[in-house]
Amino acid sequence: MTNGKRETENGKGRLRSWVRVLAVGIACLIGAACRGERVDLRKLETLVTPAEHQAGEASFAAHCRACHGPRATGTPQGPPLVDRIYQPGHHGDAAFLLAVQRGVSAHHWRFGNMPPVPGVTESEVRGIVGYVRWLQRQVGIE
Ligand code: HEC
Repeated sequence: MTNGKRETENGKGRLRSWVRVLAVGIACLIGAACRGERVDLRKLETLVTPAEHQAGEASFAAHCRACHGPRATGTPQGPPLVDRIYQPGHHGDAAFLLAVQRGVSAHHWRFGNMPPVPGVTESEVRGIVGYVRWLQRQVGIE
């Protein structure tokens, strides 16, 4: 009897520690995503943009770079898009089109709101997304 009881308690203890491990793991994941864990952006300065992303880069320069910075590394007016916050799993491609069409209320940063950007076609946004995803991959954000 005593042995049986002890075994159940051990079982519960094991379950509790697994729950704890899981909770810590999830907290770390969320924490990393919310902090936008630092990535090394200097590497991007010297990269040559492949031909397939040059049109996207040109659209980005015309419509987004003033705030999101050269190579999407951020400015005092807007956040870097090359950041773990914007990895494809967290901000999918549709988020880009929505941001451009409707603007963005400040929620991740303290730059203020992003106003809608008129005059950018869907196909230009696709090009911009392709360019930004390429930049993200160069620093290991995928
Ligand atoms: C006037 C400055 C400004 C311009 C121009 C601008 N943005 Fe933004 N953008 C911001 C700011 C500020 C944020 C961050 C809002 C926040 O706190 O989450 C942002 C956020 C975003 C986000 C994240 C959206 C989300 O769901 O959280 C995307 C994607 C984005 N911008 C894409 C673009 C693209 C693409 C362009 C060019 C077509 C562009 N932005 C032009 C200021 C700008």
